[in-house]
Amino acid sequence: MSELKNDRYLRALAKQPVDQTPVWMMRQAGRYLPEYRATRAQAGDFMSLCKNAELACEVTLQPLRRYPLDAAILFSDILTIPDAMGLGLYFETGEGPKFERPLSSYQEVANLAIPDPEDELGYVMNAVRTIRRELKGEVPLIGFSGSPWTLATYMVEGGSSKTFGKIKKMAFAEPKTLHLLLDKLADSVTSYLNAQVKAGAQSLMVFDSWGGVLSPRDYEEFSLRYMQKIVDGLIREHDGRKVPVTLFTKNGGQWIEKIAATGCDAIGLDWTIDIADAKRRVGDQVALQGNMDPSMLHASPERIRSEVETILAGFGEGTGHIFNLGHGITPDVNPEHAGAFINAVGELSRKYHK
Ligand code: CP3
Repeated sequence: MSELKNDRYLRALAKQPVDQTPVWMMRQAGRYLPEYRATRAQAGDFMSLCKNAELACEVTLQPLRRYPLDAAILFSDILTIPDAMGLGLYFETGEGPKFERPLSSYQEVANLAIPDPEDELGYVMNAVRTIRRELKGEVPLIGFSGSPWTLATYMVEGGSSKTFGKIKKMAFAEPKTLHLLLDKLADSVTSYLNAQVKAGAQSLMVFDSWGGVLSPRDYEEFSLRYMQKIVDGLIREHDGRKVPVTLFTKNGGQWIEKIAATGCDAIGLDWTIDIADAKRRVGDQVALQGNMDPSMLHASPERIRSEVETILAGFGEGTGHIFNLGHGITPDVNPEHAGAFINAVGELSRKYHK
């Protein structure tokens, strides 16, 4: 078993005692950091940055040099799988991700192959191996993927969407087509995440960014069922350690009992649920990650501190909480405010761990 200098994050996920609440930030490597923008400019476009193991490693480590974070997250994107399936991912400035060949028919879905993680996605595994080496055991490395439903929304809509009109039409008019796609994505995500574990990822997170646009029944049918398939297929122990998995459905606060029942180790919470309620409902089964509104980082450092205190008090004493933002940090955040947030978690949380 490889030694970790700081294993607070893994201990909290396993509900073992910690000295203070571990903290990391969703999208902690990103455009709010000037050093990220410089490395990104050096790489050219975003995907070239993801495909260059040394530069992907560099941007992964940048936030850790600035802040006392308790975990690193692989620098990559959830859309690497659909790209490897041949949909042609590209980024239009200011408009987010797009696909050259979105899916619309059963035949197109039937023709999709499950990508080989060490071949078409070998650049991701190279990044994982490089980052693990360069982390030198400081903190654990989180690997990740999108959920099948969330990946399918981009693959069918052809990019980001506000209404999800095309994927919902497929769900209700051509359910067989969508289920075939979700099933192939569940298999792809499982082999992709397992390859990340073998390459060195010490914890896993599944981002279900768009599960929250579904009704409760449809969430179970089109999103949760396929995350369950992934949880069932994951390597849960490697190199003498448990490999915890966190499921994050944005806007999924009403379904946390069902998410906990998948057998995941932790649930990611956005900011629309009170963490005290979440703990009461599922806190004996899973750890909880979250749940500060990322927009709070625009507030004064004093206001950020008081929000951190409120969330810490909501969770209360003991282990099982990983502090995080309820969604990704945005490019317009002042890096000093991010630092005030992280320091506040460290300082204010000690009294809850005596
Ligand atoms: O530091 C980290 O957290 C690791 C890297 C990471 C990125 N994307 C880098 C990235 C992670 C974990 C993701 C996940 C991701 N990607 C999600 C799930 C989480 C969420 O936000 O809900 C989703 C939905 C995507 C898809 C995606 N990729 C979008 C919508 C965009 C555009 C975002 C924007 O703000 O323009 C991307 C591009 C992207 N992925 C960037 C980064 C740093 C910005 C690229 C750039 O211009 O440099």
